[in-house]
Amino acid sequence: MKIVTYPASILREEARPVDQIDSETEKIIDDMFDTMYLNDGAGLAAPQVGISKRIIVVDDGNKPIHMINPEIISRSDEEENMEEGCLSLPGIRLSVWRNYKIVVCGKDKSGSVIEVEAEGLLARIFQHEIDHLNGILIIDHASSIQRRMLDSKLRKMIRAHQ
Ligand code: CO
Repeated sequence: MKIVTYPASILREEARPVDQIDSETEKIIDDMFDTMYLNDGAGLAAPQVGISKRIIVVDDGNKPIHMINPEIISRSDEEENMEEGCLSLPGIRLSVWRNYKIVVCGKDKSGSVIEVEAEGLLARIFQHEIDHLNGILIIDHASSIQRRMLDSKLRKMIRAHQ
């Protein structure tokens, strides 16, 4: 699968919920894992490979997790600031505040409901990938100072895309 990069419009769309989990869904998940590992990513959302569906894969180095129609059902008040990158924004690193702990609920490829309690890096990856399903990118979390520093890079990416 080819990684879709900024400013492709699919990255700004709300991805569609998956209402039928079938062999095609399973194939997408397998291909997303391959693509994520091939590109040294810690997470990937389906819109990043050109598929507008609510599917994510994550791996914080402990174990691979896939989730269909993921939803964050609770968040800690505690937040943490850490630098993130994104395969759809090559060359950009940005410090982003995220909830330190979250609980995520969704389905796996067998259709079973799964719930994951995540903290630290894993919680961060989930939040980053679920943002993608809502058309949100790390640059949307940038402060005005960060934004100014990013501007020329983003303009260059927009020009390269035209
Ligand atoms: Co990303």
